[in-house]
Amino acid sequence: MEQIKDTFYRPLRDLRISVIDRCNFRCTYCMPAEIFGDDYPFMPESELLSFDEIFSLAESFTALGVEKIRITGGEPLLRKNLSRLISRLSSLDGIHDIGLTTNGVFLVKQAKELKRSGLHRVNVSLDAINEDIFKQMNGRNMQPDAVLNGIDAAIDVGLQVKVNMVVKRGVNDCEIRPMAEYCKNKGVTLRFIEYMDVGQTNGWNFSEVVTKKEIYDQLTEIAPLIPVEKAYFGEVANRYRYSGSDVETGFISSVSDTFCSSCTRARVSADGKLYTCLFAEKGHDLRSLLRDGCSKGSMEKYLTSIWNQRSDRYSEERTEETVRNRKKIEMSYIGG
Ligand code: GTP
Ligand code: 5AD
Ligand code: SF4
Ligand code: SF4
Repeated sequence: MEQIKDTFYRPLRDLRISVIDRCNFRCTYCMPAEIFGDDYPFMPESELLSFDEIFSLAESFTALGVEKIRITGGEPLLRKNLSRLISRLSSLDGIHDIGLTTNGVFLVKQAKELKRSGLHRVNVSLDAINEDIFKQMNGRNMQPDAVLNGIDAAIDVGLQVKVNMVVKRGVNDCEIRPMAEYCKNKGVTLRFIEYMDVGQTNGWNFSEVVTKKEIYDQLTEIAPLIPVEKAYFGEVANRYRYSGSDVETGFISSVSDTFCSSCTRARVSADGKLYTCLFAEKGHDLRSLLRDGCSKGSMEKYLTSIWNQRSDRYSEERTEETVRNRKKIEMSYIGG
């Protein structure tokens, strides 16, 4: 198989596919309710890539070296019949890992079907177990139980589960320890995510970022942390195991300890634009090519030329100026 490389010799290994830009939550750091209101222009269904189109793109990406697919949103479980897409993707030769990133609420209903379709793993976002703090962060008065029940449903059907917690100073940093203890007792990996300046709407500020180092120091009050090797080249999380236990925890520190040098990820938005970085300003319109009847061979050539020219490394370049002036795409549009 051809192994394509970008200008920093990074291969293309992971494909993140957003299947919808809508969400049933309004997390303050992702889709603030004041901006994503009733009149927000979400994509009409005709603009979303169809499952045939997504499958066709996934085939082309697989031919270029992609081994891992992650389904994202918005909230991907709002996309009708999603498990049908996952069944098709799991039949692709060369794909050995299919994951989904979700807020977890619909897992109670959908976990069984998702597992049956060939999904391996779910990463569930949960920012607090304290009711008031969680409600304040999700912007929709959702109870933590709605997510915790989803996590239990996923575990019950045999999906691998990790929990993602975005930490914002002064908002949920007091939940670091309660969340760590809850997840440790459940035997679930909790990853702490440094709050990032994705998009244009969350009013991000350096001072609100709680760094990996600060969180690490708090966790060692529970137990010493033993470093664990990355599971694969380009994994975003730094992994640790609690001493005296098999349970892991991790840090995704894209602000204080960047990982662009091993970034092997391509992203496709729900309307079929290819982005070579989470912080990109512009995408490449694959949907038009597909709808104009582009052949598999031409698509592969086009994707190769884009990847060969890729030079993104936003987290390494982040400054007050880029935070303020770059016209970055929204998290809910590209799925993280
Ligand atoms: P695993 O396959 O389980 O390792 O998934 P993941 O951690 O790559 O994906 P997930 O959707 O759970 O994302 C966790 C956090 O990492 C989110 O905040 C993402 O936005 C962030 N993240 C994932 N990939 C990148 C990346 O390439 N760059 C940056 N800056 N952040 C990323
Ligand atoms: N910074 C860091 N992580 C974020 N997420 C959403 N917005 C941000 C942000 N601004 C996380 C979600 C989810 C994953 C896809 O990205 O909580 O776990
Ligand atoms: Fe929805 Fe996830 Fe964004 Fe929260 S972080 S608003 S759950 S897409
Ligand atoms: Fe990759 Fe861009 Fe994230 Fe760096 S900032 S790790 S290049 S997606």
